[in-house]
Amino acid sequence: MTLLHGGRLNQIAQQYNIPVDDWLDLSTGISPLSYPIPEIPLQLWQQLPQESTALIAAAKQYYQCEQVLVTNGSQSIIKILPNLWQTHMPLSKTVYLPERGYKEHAHAWRIAGYNICFYHDELPAIDMLESNSVLVVINPNNPTGKLFSVEVLKQYQSKLIALNGLLVIDEAFIDVFSSDQSMCTTVNNDNTLVLRSFGKFFGLAGIRIGFLVANNFWHNKFSNALGPWQVNGPAQLIAEHALLDISWQKQQRHNLHQLRKQQEALLLERLNREELSKELIAEINGTNLFLTVSFHNKNTASKLYHLLCQQGVYCRLGDEEDTLRFGIAKQEELTKLAQAFNKAVTT
Ligand SMILES: Cc1ncc(COP(=O)(O)O)c(C=O)c1O
Repeated sequence: MTLLHGGRLNQIAQQYNIPVDDWLDLSTGISPLSYPIPEIPLQLWQQLPQESTALIAAAKQYYQCEQVLVTNGSQSIIKILPNLWQTHMPLSKTVYLPERGYKEHAHAWRIAGYNICFYHDELPAIDMLESNSVLVVINPNNPTGKLFSVEVLKQYQSKLIALNGLLVIDEAFIDVFSSDQSMCTTVNNDNTLVLRSFGKFFGLAGIRIGFLVANNFWHNKFSNALGPWQVNGPAQLIAEHALLDISWQKQQRHNLHQLRKQQEALLLERLNREELSKELIAEINGTNLFLTVSFHNKNTASKLYHLLCQQGVYCRLGDEEDTLRFGIAKQEELTKLAQAFNKAVTT
């Protein structure tokens, strides 16, 4: 079974019979502002990719860790993790996962035959965790935006160490927060893995690069399982430049924060307008990379999704079909978004 995600613009454009170039694609949480591509030497296209010590040094500095594995996106870790953990800990049977969250996690653990216990907004009760179990935390969560503090996560980490279990922190969207929210500095044990995604904050999802932050033991296990040539040479060079460019990162955080504020205000203004008979939005959650809207009436999400698609605006209908997630739009795209809302709510 293939899960549905955002980013399927070609398919959606065909479905609504609107040319691909006429769409505003807000279906993912990828930054609309991307890191400028540096000049790429010809040999990086010609040669097989080699391990880049410069990229690894840049990543260690950016993630503030002693060991990091470069991968073809954090998705490649999510996919092989259950089997590697099962081989290491055959007694392990149970995984705790957020009920709402990036569904590839549940998919991978289900395939490996795990007993899945979903938790809602809050983490499962710490005293209820089973021996050898796995706790997956998407921090901040996509799509709910929920962020757990390092202090809380460290309590769960200590418990899982005592239980011979595993704590997996997926930090795909954490770059918009200050670096002290990350668990990357806490992986000096066999019971913690941190997944980092490059494409979202740096706006370059197409180059497919991600990182596993883990101790030596897990670094070697995943490296052996993934095999050679995970990441192409041009992608490694781009990531090296981006991870070292502190002033660009600072500017990016600031820009995304500003854009998110404007977009959140626009959503509230257009969908909770006085002249509408009632307010549509119940709540907006999210991060500076996406905004997730819940509605008073559950059916509003799927209706509005369809009406926006008819206007050439593609957002993400939540898996439960009761929320809409909007990626952050560029300044110049806000007019199209506002017009699409106007038409959608008056249709
Ligand atoms: C929470 C979360 N984790 C991981 C991923 C995988 O991202 P990538 O493989 O690009 O690092 C995604 C993709 O959308 C995601 O939403």
